[in-house]
Amino acid sequence: MRDLGILENAGVLCSEGKIAWVGRMEEFDRPLPDDFPELSAEGKVVLPGFVDSHTHMLFAGNRAREFALRADGATYQQIAEQGGGIVSTVGDVRAASKKSLKRQTSAYIADFLRHGTTTVEIKSGYGLDLDNEIKMLEAINELEKEELISIVPTFIGAHAIPPEFRNDPSAYTRLVIDKMIPYVGKKKLATFCDVFCEKGYFGAAEAEEILNAGVKWGMAPKVHADEITSSGGAELAAKVRAVSADHLEHVTDEGAAALAAAGVVATVLPGVSFFLNHGYAPARRLIDLSVPVAIASDFNPGSCMSYSMPMMMTIACTQMHLTPEEALTAATLNGAAALNLSSSLGSIEVGKRADLIVADIPDYRFLAYHFGTNHIAKTIKNGTLLEL
Ligand code: NIG
Ligand code: FE
Repeated sequence: MRDLGILENAGVLCSEGKIAWVGRMEEFDRPLPDDFPELSAEGKVVLPGFVDSHTHMLFAGNRAREFALRADGATYQQIAEQGGGIVSTVGDVRAASKKSLKRQTSAYIADFLRHGTTTVEIKSGYGLDLDNEIKMLEAINELEKEELISIVPTFIGAHAIPPEFRNDPSAYTRLVIDKMIPYVGKKKLATFCDVFCEKGYFGAAEAEEILNAGVKWGMAPKVHADEITSSGGAELAAKVRAVSADHLEHVTDEGAAALAAAGVVATVLPGVSFFLNHGYAPARRLIDLSVPVAIASDFNPGSCMSYSMPMMMTIACTQMHLTPEEALTAATLNGAAALNLSSSLGSIEVGKRADLIVADIPDYRFLAYHFGTNHIAKTIKNGTLLEL
């Protein structure tokens, strides 16, 4: 993760949306037509676009009130127990039309691209009934066709117990397994199936059953693991061979070892710990155990209202002891690995998708070092310079 393969005085040739050549300019020998569009990045840094592999960016309303309550001493769990949290966004999403959900998310997408993110995973999970989970997944799939950013859809019907099932949570698990997953699978609405494996949400046994049903219907497993308590999420991710285990703030030593043995990507979410003032995932220890670590934003109205990947890198460096090189790998190539896409994106290599960003900084370390401002001067998607 520390080896970035930096080239100076370099160039990239993009053709038909892919990277056709990359190297030092003095070695460039391809004949090109006179009118071939050329972009100077002199004095700047060219990087692969960020891959944000964990977000809940399709939502309605906001939770600014909860932010203020936390500032005044309340905790995320207390707020959730009093009817706030995920369930309050569920109310807003159920009341919103598909069109209005898409409109709000489109505006965020434009800003993602301005901040250098060229691929984003988006989860359902604020519908929590068949119709509203489908509404969310249809909106996500339509946005993937309509928007310039690449979108990977994830089904997370098991994100919380909806209020109408509070007295019978296992009946909600049955609904997810018997009705939602077969529908989502049949209509091919999601690449991944995720579960919030946590006390008060879905236990490890239920989560396993849900993820196995997802696999049966063509969805690869992901897990929200060990976020608030050590709930066996990492062990479960290893057991079901999940593509990634995400959060991991409270992963145990056994859980970390299980991830290493199974080759599961550990996706850490520095913005959540920062925003909720929770402890941080032991990303340094995970890297030292040879676990591939990815960084994602988790952008959502409750636990991280930011999608700036450079900001996530800054937090990873200052609070989680990653080097700037590790943080950059985690936000690009390892993010792609967390989506099973590392052979086609996440680095500047011939044959990969030409998703590039040009940062107006003298040195790549400034991305994390000079924080709280946007250094991305240009975003190139599939080889085309975007007007943003
Ligand atoms: O990843 N942990 C569960 N889900 C989200 C929180 C979503 C919300 O609070 O709305 C998370 O932190
Ligand atoms: Fe999440």
